[in-house]
Amino acid sequence: MRREIFAVSHLFTGRVRLASMDYKRILAEVDKRALVYMDPPYQGTCGKRDARYCTGVIFDEFVEELIDLTGRGVSFILSYDGRTGDKTYGKPLPDRLNLHRIELDAGRSSQSTLMGRDDVTYESLYLSLPLVQRLARQDVRPKPGAQRQMSLAAV
Ligand SMILES: C[S@@+](CC[C@H](N)C(=O)[O-])C[C@H]1O[C@@H](n2cnc3c(N)ncnc32)[C@H](O)[C@@H]1O
Repeated sequence: MRREIFAVSHLFTGRVRLASMDYKRILAEVDKRALVYMDPPYQGTCGKRDARYCTGVIFDEFVEELIDLTGRGVSFILSYDGRTGDKTYGKPLPDRLNLHRIELDAGRSSQSTLMGRDDVTYESLYLSLPLVQRLARQDVRPKPGAQRQMSLAAV
C-alpha cells in the first residue's frame, strides 16, 4: 500500500486540488473541458433508517443539478443505483436527462449470501449525453451490451 500511495501521490503532485464542500459548489465551477465523476451516496443511505453520511444528496435537487450540467454541455459519469437479482434499488433517474446507462457486474451480493441466496449485484454507471457525444466524435462511443468489463476477479 505504501508504494502505491506514494506512486499516486507522485502522479497527483502539482496537478490536483482537494476540496471538501457541498457538491453543488464544485459543480458550479466546471465547464465543457472537464470530465466529472460522481460517486454520491446511493439512494437510501442518507435517510433516517440509514444515516451513514453526515450530509446527503436529495434526489430532486440532484436531478436538477444533472439537468443543469447537461444543459451546460458537461461530460460526467455517475454511479448512483443498482440491482440485485430482480430487485432494483432507488428511484430511476428521469428519461429527460438522456443518460446512457451501463450495467456493471459487481459480483455476488454479500447481503444475499448472508440471507442464504445467491444473487449477483449489478451497479449502474451513467454517462451524460455531452460525454457520449464527445466519445462519438472521437469514435469511441459506448456500444450497448458490448463493453468489456474489467474485473478484479479476473486478475
Ligand atoms: C459512496 S461515497 C464515495 C466514495 C468514494 N468515491 C471512494 O471511493 O472512496 C459518497 C461520498 O459522498 C459524500 N457526500 C455526501 N453528501 C455530500 C454532499 N452533499 N456534497 C458532497 N459530498 C457529499 C460522503 O461524505 C461520501 O464521502
